Amino acid sequence: MSQYADNSRVKQKTIVDLQQMKLAGQKISSLTAYDASFAILLDQAGVDVLLVGDSLGMVVQGQASTLPVTMQDMIYHTRVVSRGCQQAFIIADLPFMSCAIAMQAAENAAQLIQQGGAHMVKLEGAKTAIIEFMVQQGIPVCAHLGLLPQLINQSGKYAVQGKEEKAAARVLADAIKIEQAGAQMLIVECIPAALAQQISEQLTIPVIGIGAGVHCDGQVLVVYDMLGISQGRKPRFTKNYMLQADSIAGAVQAYVTEVKEQIFPAQEHSF
Ligand code: KIV
Repeated sequence: MSQYADNSRVKQKTIVDLQQMKLAGQKISSLTAYDASFAILLDQAGVDVLLVGDSLGMVVQGQASTLPVTMQDMIYHTRVVSRGCQQAFIIADLPFMSCAIAMQAAENAAQLIQQGGAHMVKLEGAKTAIIEFMVQQGIPVCAHLGLLPQLINQSGKYAVQGKEEKAAARVLADAIKIEQAGAQMLIVECIPAALAQQISEQLTIPVIGIGAGVHCDGQVLVVYDMLGISQGRKPRFTKNYMLQADSIAGAVQAYVTEVKEQIFPAQEHSF
């Protein structure tokens, strides 16, 4: 990449850096990325973590859900993102049914790391036995709790999770089990801010929120949502940063600043 010809000393962030950010109370900024051009732009704006999310099924491929996304899709998009990335930590999603069995999960994760260049893989749900097996094989794992888009055909709708006392206790218990299983990061999606705060305080691993309030250790958004180009209903937890920016780079910079300074998410973006 010519943009990086004289920029070879940029240090790639590691999980240890992200862990230290949590310890130091520095908020972690994260956005999804699906291609090299966006990866370069986000990387240069200082986004700490690029998530190659299976949300690409909806926002890139125009599918109705994330379910049709395949391992080949994920390897391709992870590879092109990692080509554009110098400093950010890269997490890649394990798509629907790619991690139902431990060995299959580990083999698929290995492809995302070896062929895609991911530094960590993410899987939805409290799959503690599978997490434990992958960690034993040396695979860094990020878990994902709360709203789980891959379960849309079981749940029937994308709704806030953990609102009732019992449900909140289950999410918290799952989060603790996930950390004990060896996951090194957790994403919590669409849960009450108070529950996300409790989880972030109890866990030693970084907890990144989306629709989970300002007290998480970091924030992630789908990049097209924060640029206001996603189609359909705008979820409450997103913010269109293009409304106050005159360039995409400026919008991303504003997002990073607002995450670091705990301006985003505000009350109006939280549950
Ligand atoms: O696929 C994705 O983009 C995600 C985020 C919404 C957390 O999992």
